[in-house]
Amino acid sequence: MALSGLKTLLEEARRQNRAVGAFNVASAEMILGCVEAAEETSAPIILQAAEARLSAVPLEVLGPAMLGAARAARVPVAVQLDHGKTEKVIRMALDMGFTSVMFDGSDLPMEENIAMTRYFADMAHARGACAEGEIGSLGAGEGGEKGAPACTDPEEAALFAARTGVDALAVAIGNAHGIYAGAPDFRFDILAGITARCGVPLVLHGGTGAGEERFRRCIRGGIRKINIATAVFMADAKARAAVGGADYFAMSRAAREAVRRTAEDHIRVFGIGKEC
Ligand code: 13P
Repeated sequence: MALSGLKTLLEEARRQNRAVGAFNVASAEMILGCVEAAEETSAPIILQAAEARLSAVPLEVLGPAMLGAARAARVPVAVQLDHGKTEKVIRMALDMGFTSVMFDGSDLPMEENIAMTRYFADMAHARGACAEGEIGSLGAGEGGEKGAPACTDPEEAALFAARTGVDALAVAIGNAHGIYAGAPDFRFDILAGITARCGVPLVLHGGTGAGEERFRRCIRGGIRKINIATAVFMADAKARAAVGGADYFAMSRAAREAVRRTAEDHIRVFGIGKEC
């Protein structure tokens, strides 16, 4: 049984100066491809589903498949609700046995974000699960919704981490969900400021397209969890399109293999139980 807690995985990553890949999934092929990549590299991973994406497959269906794959895996796999927005879905994920939940209050005023994140972090901890919070704005949500980007303020991040009790903190340093229009401009100075003030492991959302060098600099700067969604979805979709025709099982095999390769490529850059 390899279902694991987020905190344990991130603490181990910190000791080994690497990051854990957190892959968003929306189908059985994506779940299996990511777990195969983790087993192939002997690296722990996090399987995630974002609340905004549950219109494709509801949590009641997707969640048990994620948990089943994690329990059967030969490597540690944490299962997390990504960008939780509503109490109903956050409670459902915890009831199911997800090992962590993220409450995303990054669009709320600071005090409200702190209060809500504290509420959900306490709820998760009471059930033996972990919690992730977010401060700063990425400019675009995981479901594609738009907002104004704003980098995380290091002082506010320290206050937020201390007052919410989160186990992982998502930060905004020029990262964004989806496809970057040009080369992303990551503010490594801001990341250094946050790391200097916060003891909590930091999370980079918007991993797709950030590139190997930025990943390495982020890890050296204190990022311990890197979220990859778009690259997983694109790998699956492109592989199915390349197969074409009407043979569902040929498409399914191709999609699973493409997701495995994509996840494995990222895991190798994030580091596998050694200095990165
Ligand atoms: P990408 O879609 O840019 O990989 O971002 C994923 C993410 O941050 C999920 O929370």
